[in-house]
Amino acid sequence: MAMMHRFHIRDGDVTYSSRFLRSDSYVSNSEKNRIVMSEFGTLAMPDPCKNIFARFFSRFTIPTEATDNASVNFVKYKGDYYVSTETNYMRRVDPQSLETKEKVDWCQYIAVNAATAHPHYDREGATYNMGNSYGRSGFFYNIIRVPAPEDRKEKEDTADLTGAQVICSIRASEARKPSYYHSFVMSENYIVFIEQPIKLDLMKFMLYRIQGKSFHKVMTWEPQCDTIFHLVNRHTGEESKVKYRGEPMFTLHQINAFEEDGFLVMDMCCGDDGQAIGEFTLENLRRDAGEGLDEFYNSLCRNLPRRYVLPLAVTNDTPLDTNLVTLHYCTATARRTGPSEVYLTHEELYNDDLLQYGGLEFPHINYDRCNGRAYRYFYSCGFGHAFSDSLLKMDVHTKELKVWRYPGLYPSEPVFVAAPNAAEEDEGVVLSVIITPRKEKSTFLLVLDAKTFTELGRAEVPVNIPYGTHGVFNKMG
Ligand SMILES: [Fe+2]
Repeated sequence: MAMMHRFHIRDGDVTYSSRFLRSDSYVSNSEKNRIVMSEFGTLAMPDPCKNIFARFFSRFTIPTEATDNASVNFVKYKGDYYVSTETNYMRRVDPQSLETKEKVDWCQYIAVNAATAHPHYDREGATYNMGNSYGRSGFFYNIIRVPAPEDRKEKEDTADLTGAQVICSIRASEARKPSYYHSFVMSENYIVFIEQPIKLDLMKFMLYRIQGKSFHKVMTWEPQCDTIFHLVNRHTGEESKVKYRGEPMFTLHQINAFEEDGFLVMDMCCGDDGQAIGEFTLENLRRDAGEGLDEFYNSLCRNLPRRYVLPLAVTNDTPLDTNLVTLHYCTATARRTGPSEVYLTHEELYNDDLLQYGGLEFPHINYDRCNGRAYRYFYSCGFGHAFSDSLLKMDVHTKELKVWRYPGLYPSEPVFVAAPNAAEEDEGVVLSVIITPRKEKSTFLLVLDAKTFTELGRAEVPVNIPYGTHGVFNKMG
């Protein structure tokens, strides 16, 4: 169940607090003292007190609801904090007290069935996200825009997504098998939606929902399909007629994107084998430390950073079968292969040094300064194991790495915090929560100098904290 953690840093002291999110899902599971809500990888156990006919009957009389156990990320809309997963529900929360506020249903505001846990923010305070809709006319990936907060002195203590609108609907290439996506790309003028060959089988989804099976079984890796990049102007909502294609790949987290000399440069963490997403089951993660877990880890493909470059001005006069990418520092290619089609190959955004730390995931940049703009550094977790076991700083100009790693310590997503009035991109600190299964060593908040990647301090917490996903820094007062 979603648990929120808060480290409060003030005048050199750090205090820690945590609270379970009081979701409807948490309340139901607590009342029954077992998991009664099926979620992404967790199948609700059938009620042992009911026989098979009673179970069948109850599933038809009690509609299966999407979960509000929002365990993925803290997100911000119109100045309010919410916790989010990948369903139509979010929960507003108080970031100071970690109190759970009201449940918010996207469907009450706009025609989408769900939204990602990785929205983007522009410099005017608007939030962009993506969500699905389906109906008789097909399946669509929708780009959502929630406006900046109104400039009012007295803000009411209620959730407010008014003014949210769908600015573009992108038709799925296969109506019955839309792609899974976890995030998307945003630059100063564009949004890129990546339609990857991890497909959601809608017929199975409906059937499994009735049967109460967990949802990862309805996702299939279909490497016979290309990856399709859909380019949308985020100011006008207009979708480019040019479709950019590339070899099949699997991506969860984007690093950054920026425009330069008529090109859109996109960096992301990718793998070649999307089968991996179905392998992160409790059964696999509960394997014994040592051989069992190593075997699982070695069977997974590594997620590694790569760069794609989209030429923005492609017309009927653009030559065919010629590499259009003229950025001197980049080996990614783009070739026009048909009237409205461009085929992309990527550049590996790392050198061999990275491979000794496994793959990398959970990338973070100096977001306020560099999101959508040319940048030089990103921070991430190295996956030399089934769980992340190092923190990495990558210089995307030179592909040089800086590393923090200690055996037996498992870091969470690194969060960059800029120094006040910072002059340089990497002037500030990187925060990460470090957990360890060792009993004598507790959890701690690690503070690294972002420039040198050396330790500035640790704030130890005398309790164990579970392994988490994403975090944010919020400057109070
Ligand atoms: Fe994520």
